Amino acid sequence: MNAVLAETTAQLRAVGCVYAEEEAAILVAAADSAAQLRELIGRRAAGEPLEQIVGHAEFDGTRVRLRHGVFVPRVRSQLLVREAATRTRPGDTVVDLCCGSGALGLALLRRVPGIDLTAADSDPAAVACARDNLGADRVFEGDLFDALPAGLRGRINVLLANVPYVASAHIDYLPAEARLHEPRTALDGGPDGLDIFRAVVAAAGSWLAPGGLLLSEITEAQADTAAEVVRRAGLRPGLCHDDELEATVVTATR
Ligand SMILES: C[S@@+](CC[C@H](N)C(=O)[O-])C[C@H]1O[C@@H](n2cnc3c(N)ncnc32)[C@H](O)[C@@H]1O
Repeated sequence: MNAVLAETTAQLRAVGCVYAEEEAAILVAAADSAAQLRELIGRRAAGEPLEQIVGHAEFDGTRVRLRHGVFVPRVRSQLLVREAATRTRPGDTVVDLCCGSGALGLALLRRVPGIDLTAADSDPAAVACARDNLGADRVFEGDLFDALPAGLRGRINVLLANVPYVASAHIDYLPAEARLHEPRTALDGGPDGLDIFRAVVAAAGSWLAPGGLLLSEITEAQADTAAEVVRRAGLRPGLCHDDELEATVVTATR
């Protein structure tokens, strides 16, 4: 290990970074000068997510560009992408709703080239970031389905919707990186965490094509309630879980 890397690792370790060596390598590679490296280390020491500092995240084998204040894609969301990929064919109409950086849509595009992908989010910073990743012409800004071109109604084969699903009372217990550096609107799903999921499911029936599939990440504890929400909306529920990723996905098929 060279001296700069060793020193950076030591500084990150001293402020409690668990993966100090890996993070040091990323910061050193991102800095153009010693002064800039000092600035980046300072921001990391103050708790800013590494991915927002360097402007990119690795997700499902894809490099995703990231902006300040935009939700950092989580490793566990690979389950959602993996499940979507097994049921997506080239040429399918795919929507990444609540897209954040657009990480999920981008990863699915890599796994299934040739999909017709549209993405949307209500947060202007997220929309700008998703446009960096997916191109300006396929990312729209607005509240849930209101953002989408009307022509997609009844035509969506695969609907990715990693909506905010943390129960409001649990927000205070999230790691500081999320609480302080990601917008509350990206995290807070209301009293039981499922408010936005309910809104998506309620409208999904009219936006999905016959046989079309909605996939949303939830917690394991929310699984029964989420499946019931899907059933009551007249869609067919399904659940997938991955112990290693600690991820749960609820699906709804029209
Ligand atoms: C948990 S983050 C997921 C981001 C991205 N899909 C990912 O997995 O990295 C939820 C996203 O939903 C967006 N969002 C919250 N409420 C929304 C709404 N009513 N309409 C559209 N987007 C919304 C937030 O701005 C945020 O980007």
